Amino acid sequence: MKIEIIDFDIKGDERGFLIALEENKNIPFDLKRIYYIFGTKENIRRGFHAHKQLNQVAICLSGSCKMLMDDGVEKKTILLDTPEQGLLIRKMIWHEMFDFSKDCVLLVLASELYDENDYIRDYNKFIRLTRKNGVKNNETTTIW
Ligand code: TYD
Repeated sequence: MKIEIIDFDIKGDERGFLIALEENKNIPFDLKRIYYIFGTKENIRRGFHAHKQLNQVAICLSGSCKMLMDDGVEKKTILLDTPEQGLLIRKMIWHEMFDFSKDCVLLVLASELYDENDYIRDYNKFIRLTRKNGVKNNETTTIW
């Protein structure tokens, strides 16, 4: 599984820093929804799902957390601890978030509006679907 990190262009001067996010430019899809996760209690693990169609970019604006990514073949854990990078979470990637610092603010940009029908929340079903779709190591769909 290829982990795709987007390095954002930072506009900085003596006042500090600014990053702009634009659909179909540094964010590789139409931007339909933004949500953020904050105030996560200690030892909480969340996510535990994949999406059938949704593509997302996760950006840790403050603090840190970890993201487990699983394409049904391989699992990788990524530390998110900078607002300067985004992690692309493509459709059909099982993901779990954990080890949130108290001050963690995790911003997520999404390619679709919220739709519970797009969620796969059963890991066995996710595995069945990835097998059926013939997911192999390093296979990705290009959405850029
Ligand atoms: P949930 O999917 O459990 O979050 P996570 O994947 O981070 O564990 O979402 C928590 C609640 O928020 C759930 O009731 C669905 C709702 N929700 C929305 O209404 N809109 C959204 O865009 C998202 C992501 C969740």
